[in-house]
Amino acid sequence: MNLTELNKVAEAMVAPGRGILAADESTSTITKRFGAIGVESTPISRRDYREMLFRSTEAMAKHISGVILYDETIRQNAKDGTPLVKVIEQAGSIPGIKVDKGTKPLPFHPNELITEGLDGLRERLVEYRGLGAKFAKWRAVIDIGPGIPSYGALMTNAHALARYAALCEDENIVPIVEPEVLMDGDHDIDRCAQITAWVLNTVFEQLFYQRVPLEGMVLKPNMVVPGKKSPKRASVEEVAEKTLRVLKAAVPAAVPGIAFLSGGQSDEEATAHLDAINKMGPLPWRVTFSYGRALQAAPQKAWAGKADNVAAAQRALGHRARMNGLATLGEWKADLERKAA
Ligand code: 13P
Repeated sequence: MNLTELNKVAEAMVAPGRGILAADESTSTITKRFGAIGVESTPISRRDYREMLFRSTEAMAKHISGVILYDETIRQNAKDGTPLVKVIEQAGSIPGIKVDKGTKPLPFHPNELITEGLDGLRERLVEYRGLGAKFAKWRAVIDIGPGIPSYGALMTNAHALARYAALCEDENIVPIVEPEVLMDGDHDIDRCAQITAWVLNTVFEQLFYQRVPLEGMVLKPNMVVPGKKSPKRASVEEVAEKTLRVLKAAVPAAVPGIAFLSGGQSDEEATAHLDAINKMGPLPWRVTFSYGRALQAAPQKAWAGKADNVAAAQRALGHRARMNGLATLGEWKADLERKAA
């Protein structure tokens, strides 16, 4: 392990004004997204769509520090034959790879999931590094509901995250450690805060036991928000304040950066929350975005699978990337959204 190099990559992933584009949807997830815009999902249409994102020169050069790829994409070439990994690098961004193998039901834990993919992971990391990946991602999913999460499910997922992170760093790949507390339920913001605190404390305990140097990783947590079906909504300031309270108590300052997932928040909500959190600085770590839906919803809609729409879709991604870039500095204003609309 070369911790100096890992730390350099981690710092670059969370550099001021920049954040991560999560473009690592599994084939079934991207097929669902394409279905919503009337596009058939084939290896070529998926390649064309992602090539369009990675060739959004302005967004990539200025605001996208890294791109998380799916196994299919890291092996694909652009239309002109250039590997997509090279397209990303030439745009000034860092390629990364999702390495977990998705979730399965956890035995004897009804309605709870475990993320799989540890077997053979070292060998896969070596291969991905050869293909150009400098960082990786593993997502654990924790749902909130009656009687869940359980300690067993939470601890097992945290343990897997820590095993993954240790293997990554040992193979000189920066691990994005992603324990996602879902926002699907009807729970209020305080229950989300309580569970997120429990999850993060357990994750850092397991990282400690696996002897993972925190300087070489990036944390990708959820924000503290009410469940989507909760009648009790929270203001932007309340989300920022409660998110920071939990993070400050659970995330050691040795972690270079925190890159939030968007988790089903609207584009503008995800930006406003990130901005409000950064306005409450100075913070012990860099705080940025690692958004999938909140960066891609607008370009997907603008693109709709038509070559004629590529420029409009790239402008849509450019706008969201710029808004989120400003939010990493606490310099976003709602006015900027309206002017662009
Ligand atoms: P969302 O921002 O759409 O939640 O996706 C981020 C991600 O990578 C989830 O694993």
